[in-house]
Amino acid sequence: MRTQVAIIGGGPSGLLLAQLLQTKGVDSVILERQSRAHVLGRIRAGVLERGLLDLMQEAGVADRMQAEGFTHDGTLISYGDEMFRVDFKALTGHAVMVYGQTEVTRDLYEARDRTGGEVIHNVQDVTIHDANSDSPSVSYTVNGQTQTISCDFVAGCDGFHGVSRQTIPADLRREFEKVYPFGWLGILSETPPVNHELIYASSDRGFALCSMRNAGLSRYYVQCDLSDSPENWTDDAFWAELKRRIPSDQAAKLITGPSIEKSIAPLRSFVCEPMCWGRLFLCGDAAHIVPPTGAKGLNTAASDVHYLFEGLAQFYATGKTQGIDAYSERALARVWKAERFSWWFSSLMHQFPDQSGFDLRMQQAEIAFLRSNESAQRAMAENYVGLPY
Ligand code: APR
Ligand code: PHB
Repeated sequence: MRTQVAIIGGGPSGLLLAQLLQTKGVDSVILERQSRAHVLGRIRAGVLERGLLDLMQEAGVADRMQAEGFTHDGTLISYGDEMFRVDFKALTGHAVMVYGQTEVTRDLYEARDRTGGEVIHNVQDVTIHDANSDSPSVSYTVNGQTQTISCDFVAGCDGFHGVSRQTIPADLRREFEKVYPFGWLGILSETPPVNHELIYASSDRGFALCSMRNAGLSRYYVQCDLSDSPENWTDDAFWAELKRRIPSDQAAKLITGPSIEKSIAPLRSFVCEPMCWGRLFLCGDAAHIVPPTGAKGLNTAASDVHYLFEGLAQFYATGKTQGIDAYSERALARVWKAERFSWWFSSLMHQFPDQSGFDLRMQQAEIAFLRSNESAQRAMAENYVGLPY
């Protein structure tokens, strides 16, 4: 089999890239290790930056998002019983869209079906060959048979545990990592959100986040120990802990109900440099991870896809390679800024096990400064709505 761009991974990065390429008549094949149902069963964050909204439009997949998503002009930040609002719209002229990553992925799969593009599911043993040549190929096994796709380029969109990053020789790769000493225990419940905007809550019992998917579906998180397990938490225990961490007027109006999902996610910052090797390009979680505070994971994947798409579109239209040659540098420049914001927001809002009294006062002073200083709020808002591509 032959295609122009072999895409490894059918998560949001791979699917979005495929749809954008399709608008320029560039064909691709997506190889996905899991079934479609499995991919669509994952629960991830749901805050979309304006850059991703524009990309969804460009890819022709924005209709349902425009109809069903919720525009958020600001967010709430609380510490103990105090709460203030950062007004994104007033400070930056932009807003964000609350629309679940699962829904983004579903819309992309449906668009792929409509445009007749190939997605091969349940593939195993994906191996990238000759990435550092002009004629790379990808082999894989499906239903016990080994197949090979020859291509012009390989897009490694296969997440943190994929094969693409590992294909770059270890001596050419530099990896940067920070593991945080806590996790997020999250639940999904069919209850109305406690507030129409998100609440990022700092408290002496640890961080909490009140988020949502829609008017009848809420997503809540509490910071927990890494050694903890969801089985240790009854729904009642979760709600009680959440209420202790958010302002009492919010706790009083919180509507609780049975959880329909409960899980713990660790927090990690990770970046691989460079994000390419020859004709292999990494996008999204394959190259970097952010802690979820600020919801930059999907959004940073989207900016990678934008830069790669631009480079590939230029190559297929003109034969010029400036765009693909500059891909890693352009993508990383923005990735590091998203890493910085996610690290800053995580460091500001969580309780750290080895935190001294001084460290705690520094956090409190910084939150107080953010509350009272418009420039600080604008810097936060600019990062939250998404730095320009
Ligand atoms: N072969 C084929 N597919 C693979 C392989 C492999 N060896 N390894 C992993 N995959 C698939 C996974 O099953 C997954 O569906 O690659 C896909 C990668 O998808 P994601 O992990 O969702 O990563 P990405 O598409 O970059 O999405 C960006 O934003 O909010 C964040 O972490 C969140 O998923 C999110 C990300
Ligand atoms: C979520 O809704 O899951 C979510 C929202 C915002 C974040 C992280 C997660 O910063």
